[in-house]
Amino acid sequence: MKWIEVKTYEEMSRIAAELFIKQLKANPKSVLGLATGGTPVGLYELLVAEVKANRLSFKDVTTFNLDEYVGLPQENSASYWMYMHDTLFNHIDIKEENIHLPNGVAPNLHAECSAYDKRIAAEGGIDLQLLGIGVNGHIGFNEPGTPFDSLTHVVELTESTRTENAIYFEEGAEMPTHAITMGIQSIMNAKEIVLLAFGERKLEAMEKLKEGKLTEDFPASQLTTHDNITIIYGGTK
Ligand code: F6R
Repeated sequence: MKWIEVKTYEEMSRIAAELFIKQLKANPKSVLGLATGGTPVGLYELLVAEVKANRLSFKDVTTFNLDEYVGLPQENSASYWMYMHDTLFNHIDIKEENIHLPNGVAPNLHAECSAYDKRIAAEGGIDLQLLGIGVNGHIGFNEPGTPFDSLTHVVELTESTRTENAIYFEEGAEMPTHAITMGIQSIMNAKEIVLLAFGERKLEAMEKLKEGKLTEDFPASQLTTHDNITIIYGGTK
């Protein structure tokens, strides 16, 4: 485990961007695992700037996102599909057919979940997986108690996660109760992982992760067993 402590959010984003740029230069056909949320916005901005300056290309890159809400169609403004397009995909040269997010309105959600892991495997697995972390230690939507050997599955969102994420929904809009998420094992299968965490809210989770006690009550603890993971974190925002 490599820990990089940073002073600013910008520094965290820049170091993360360097890792992604290095990955894409080494292998322009990389398979990336991507995350949504507030944390990676700065990283995505830097990657967009590199593409706009013609220093980076996603034309042969394939992406798999960690998760999507159940019941939200792509065009819903709070869907992760929309977040990813607004924040990254619409501004880079990635091919739409190379973009993958779980389909939260699939008629058979369980079939969608197992097909998602198969699609990742068919692409040769994830080369570089980006993660954020919840204040309760969740990764993806794998809430405390999720088995470490879980593959992509449907989860019921906890009250704490629903409250945290309510800010992304328009006032009065119904917040989903369930989501599809890559499982902890699906995440661990990535060849390399980079986890980003910034701000006081995340300090406690970072402390717990550093302690390194392996427990399903703190999903991120399983990451301590990965042999190629970098954690870039900082305390205040
Ligand atoms: C997002 C995801 C979540 C977030 C986590 C942190 O795709 O899977 O695990 O990474 O909730 O969210 P932020 O970055 O908003 O603090």
